[in-house]
Amino acid sequence: MAQGAQPAAGEIGSSKNPSEVGVTPGTVAAAAPAAAAGTTTADPAAIAAGDALFKGNCAQCHAINEVVVGPAMAGITKRRPMSWIIPWIKNSSKVVASGDAYAVALYNKYQKQQMPSFQLSDAEITSIVAYITSEEGKPTVGTGIAPTDGSQALVDGTAAANGEASSSMNILLIVLVVVLIVLVVTLVIIANIMKDVLRGRKDLDGRDREQIEERFDYSRIYKSTAVRGIVGTVFVLAVLYETIQGAMGVGLSQGYQPTQPIAFSHKLHAGENQINCAYCHTSVYKGKSANIPSPNICMNCHSQIKTESPEIKKIYRAIERKQPIQWVRVHNIPDLAYFNHSQHTQVAGLECVTCHGPIENMEVVYQYSALTMGWCINCHRETPLNTKGNGYYDNLVKLHDSKNGAVPFTVSSNGGTECSKCHY
Ligand code: HEC
Ligand code: HEC
Ligand code: HEC
Ligand code: HEC
Ligand code: HEC
Ligand code: HEC
Repeated sequence: MAQGAQPAAGEIGSSKNPSEVGVTPGTVAAAAPAAAAGTTTADPAAIAAGDALFKGNCAQCHAINEVVVGPAMAGITKRRPMSWIIPWIKNSSKVVASGDAYAVALYNKYQKQQMPSFQLSDAEITSIVAYITSEEGKPTVGTGIAPTDGSQALVDGTAAANGEASSSMNILLIVLVVVLIVLVVTLVIIANIMKDVLRGRKDLDGRDREQIEERFDYSRIYKSTAVRGIVGTVFVLAVLYETIQGAMGVGLSQGYQPTQPIAFSHKLHAGENQINCAYCHTSVYKGKSANIPSPNICMNCHSQIKTESPEIKKIYRAIERKQPIQWVRVHNIPDLAYFNHSQHTQVAGLECVTCHGPIENMEVVYQYSALTMGWCINCHRETPLNTKGNGYYDNLVKLHDSKNGAVPFTVSSNGGTECSKCHY
């Protein structure tokens, strides 16, 4: 199944496979020898070839200025000689096994994650390094930020990649604050210089002199009715806004789409690979709740499929550490209401898509339905009972038909909108 149903290249964000290395596209391979003679000096052809090789093989784990799964690449030529880098990329575990102190320390620092081996030629590796060197100077989004240890953060739910957007916002804010502080300081300095100049002048009369020496009285700000009025109004408006937002949002989280600790895609698994929902959500036809699969279920396939992928490595790590994967719950109705999956999937024969929407097209799951009381009750009013082949309903159907056969026998005509059915 896995081989047959491989997604089209590029369709899944991180589907670039380290094992594809060696079958690098012809164009790249052709461009690389140009760099063969060259060292790490800026040869545009070598840099272009290195760029393509880096994006195809390394970018899923490395960035130039930021720790992703592996270390940031910037400054690598200063840290290590080419005579170390080349064997490392060809087979890092061999370098670690040889007892090389730097390699062993690095390997331990990155939680003993093995970097895959690459069947790249010396020339190709040289061109990758040339590309890295050419990128080093360029200011990128990640520059200047203390790199978080990606591999650690990932399991805790903060994918390093997601930090990029917010960290650029943070940089912007920090820059703005710094600029403001500099402005204020400059203004104060200018004001003082001007005062000094004025003090030096002889032709000032007593009143002017008084004004120069007068200290600014801060209490005037508090006393001013205008200032008090503005602050008061803003405060009241803010409280009002929060209250209204809060009241409108009680229990409402339609569209909620949290970032999950592992980039698990329903589109890839349930959609393209057609894995049955109940293969993973095993209790959805049998029990009250649909379970979230344990890492062992993932391992049924991923002990063989995509074993080198950094996302899959996170499953391994969870199992090694005997810690559950910290999936973020998407759907959650409050405890005061009772909802039972098997009643709806098994008994009523409803499809998952009715309530959860097109899960098999979702890269990341979001809450499709409102999950409000009104939503439950509307459906109960409209949906006829699935009575076929269900002996429990035989007598009830007869009773209903004899009384008012014209009206469909809905969930609600069977008492499905009584408060006690959902609340007790
Ligand atoms: C699957 C993830 C992964 C891929 C793909 C990967 N690396 Fe690495 N790399 C790592 C990790 C993790 C380390 C840290 C050492 C360790 O744990 O083995 C590392 C370390 C390195 C180092 C040493 C860095 C230092 O600071 O000393 C270099 C150089 C390097 N990688 C280059 C590359 C290049 C070039 C490629 C692409 C051809 C590549 N890596 C692909 C995960 C990866
Ligand atoms: C290969 C295993 C697998 C298959 C197959 C699968 N799921 Fe999931 N499902 C998961 C995992 C893991 C999660 C938790 C992570 C997430 O929310 O993406 C999940 C989460 C969900 C959630 C959100 C749960 C919550 O937190 O509220 C819904 C709804 C869901 N799946 C429905 C479906 C439906 C419908 C299908 C079939 C079309 C399906 N799943 C097929 C593994 C699977
Ligand atoms: C029935 C088999 C099967 C099960 C069970 C399964 N997967 Fe997968 N998974 C696949 C296939 C097939 C692919 C696509 C492989 C490819 O792109 O070559 C895949 C790909 C992935 C990828 C993308 C990897 C990458 O880097 O491109 C992730 C992440 C993933 N699975 C996570 C999970 C998790 C988490 C679970 C358990 C909740 C799970 N899988 C259970 C078959 C499975
Ligand atoms: C009648 C609507 C409905 C149908 C049909 C339905 N679900 Fe749900 N599902 C819900 C509601 C409501 C919740 C939230 C339950 C809660 O918070 O207790 C939920 C929650 C979930 C969860 C999160 C775990 C849990 O039980 O809280 C998963 C996984 C899930 N559904 C999978 C499925 C799958 C797979 C199917 C199809 C076989 C399916 N659902 C069919 C309404 C539905
Ligand atoms: C898409 C339609 C649909 C939605 C949405 C829906 N239900 Fe239902 N529900 C049904 C059907 C159909 C039945 C009848 C199943 C049967 O034959 O017993 C049912 C039955 C029930 C029953 C058992 C009623 C009885 O008479 O024994 C309860 C309790 C229930 N639903 C709770 C809920 C709650 C709570 C929600 C909202 C979170 C909800 N349902 C949302 C269709 C729906
Ligand atoms: C089909 C199931 C169902 C039936 C029948 C039902 N409720 Fe609810 N009720 C829910 C669900 C689900 C919620 C939680 C969703 C939400 O907060 O919007 C809820 C929430 C509530 C709340 C709390 C609202 C809040 O925001 O905390 C009250 C009060 C309530 N219901 C009263 C009633 C009364 C009274 C009846 C009978 C006339 C009734 N319900 C019948 C499903 C039902």
